[in-house]
Amino acid sequence: MALLSSPLQLKGLTLKNRIVMPPMCQYSVDAHDGTPTDWHFVHYVSRAVGGTGLIIVEMTDVEPDGRISNGDLGLWSDEQIPAFSRIVSEVHKYGSKIGIQIGHAGRKAEDAEVPVSASAIAFPGSRYKMPRALTTEEVQAMVVKFAESARRAVEAGMDTIEIHGAHGYLIHQFHSPLINKRDDQYGKDPALFGVEVIQAVKKVIPADMPLIMRVSAVEYVDGGYGLEYSTELCRRYKEAGVDVFHLSSGGEGPIGSAGRPGVHPGYQVPLARAIKQALDVPVIAVGNLDDAKLAEATLGNGDADLIAVGRGMLRDPYWAIHAIRALSPEELQPPKQYGRAF
Ligand SMILES: Cc1cc2nc3c(=O)[nH]c(=O)nc-3n(C[C@H](O)[C@H](O)[C@H](O)COP(=O)(O)O)c2cc1C
Repeated sequence: MALLSSPLQLKGLTLKNRIVMPPMCQYSVDAHDGTPTDWHFVHYVSRAVGGTGLIIVEMTDVEPDGRISNGDLGLWSDEQIPAFSRIVSEVHKYGSKIGIQIGHAGRKAEDAEVPVSASAIAFPGSRYKMPRALTTEEVQAMVVKFAESARRAVEAGMDTIEIHGAHGYLIHQFHSPLINKRDDQYGKDPALFGVEVIQAVKKVIPADMPLIMRVSAVEYVDGGYGLEYSTELCRRYKEAGVDVFHLSSGGEGPIGSAGRPGVHPGYQVPLARAIKQALDVPVIAVGNLDDAKLAEATLGNGDADLIAVGRGMLRDPYWAIHAIRALSPEELQPPKQYGRAF
């Protein structure tokens, strides 16, 4: 049996295979109300028909000013729940599981009048506005907003939650020493905001639901943190309740003088492997893994427990079916309506 098509148990969640669709913003909420549209329904259900084991819905924000753009999804109101439930129910019909990435763009909120962040330090470049630093009380209120969004995701029927702690968004802004210059408890301990978000989210999700966190394992700016720092960060987050890490990189600022990192096949696999080995925790590897044999090798070498394919799945909604067919055609279980094609 190909590892890619083998099931995986994560606490109470059983995945039919190791293939993940990572969160990818669609910027397609035309009414600017954060509510999924028919585009989102078709987009996510197509990947379920395509055989994906776990679909992670794009970055979905905990308040309107937490959106990258007004086209982003949100879960700041109970009124948004039914449109998510509709997607979840249909995805489940094809045997796929579905989670959602909960986040806040912080200083990268492009349409917010005055974005918020850990400190009043703008993301370099004319595209981004000068943010204001959240007060200590506002940080505490933000923790509650993350938990409320997670509670709504559970009510919508999501199988798992991914907290967005990567790519220079709000949680990353707090745990990045170059962005967080606060002198309250959230500055003295840069991981504290993330830790409190995890703890608050854990309280509102079922005990057997795995909690995923996405982290940029290395920063790209000059003087940014590296793997040693992110390993300790992930250790804190694991102690707070994270069950699975999803390892990405960068996003916190302009590429430093070392130049753009390689985006060769599997370029982020070493990050996943390092965190897995250091913390003995399940990990999702992502980043140019759309060659099925490379994805299989990543699992076979013990570098990751799950592999995510982003742009490859935008090109091919049936990526999972095609990958399993290439690796071990006898295991293929396409939707019965498509059986005659295989
Ligand atoms: C259109 C697009 C939107 C994305 N939106 C998100 C997002 O909402 N949250 C996130 O953590 N990463 C986001 N990403 C990053 C992907 O999840 C993934 O990590 C990245 O594309 C690398 O994987 P790939 O080489 O398989 O595409 C996005 C990527 C793309 C191409």
